[in-house]
Amino acid sequence: MRLLKSLLSALLLTMACSGQAQLSERQSRLLVVNCIQCHARGNAGFPIMGNPDDWKTRNRQGEDRLLRSVIEGLGGMPPLGYCAACSEADLRALTRLVAGLEGGK
Ligand code: HEC
Repeated sequence: MRLLKSLLSALLLTMACSGQAQLSERQSRLLVVNCIQCHARGNAGFPIMGNPDDWKTRNRQGEDRLLRSVIEGLGGMPPLGYCAACSEADLRALTRLVAGLEGGK
């Protein structure tokens, strides 16, 4: 678990450096303990972060609709993406990152 966390931090740092992520340190932590648990794995039906093919169709509906799916939950994703500690602004920032809305649409 420790190793996984440091790998994820390295991943986040890389994304931050490439200009895709505008997350505070707190938001990065929320991402790691919530969204990444599902969105970094190849489980069937889970759209994977950093894999544009998984997002092309979804992202066409626009950021606000994506955010609404996260807030209300969608299919296998629980409401708030499990992140009870997230504010709406947090969820928006995390949604943009998970869906890859910045940098490569
Ligand atoms: C328990 C697993 C799980 C967690 C935790 C989770 N997601 Fe998801 N997420 C999913 C699944 C599964 C889908 C696909 C749902 C579907 O289309 O039926 C999804 C879909 C999405 C979508 C696309 C919504 C759409 O309208 O197509 C976005 C954006 C998203 N997740 C962002 C997030 C963010 C941001 C977080 C953290 C705050 C998060 N997810 C946490 C499982 C999860």
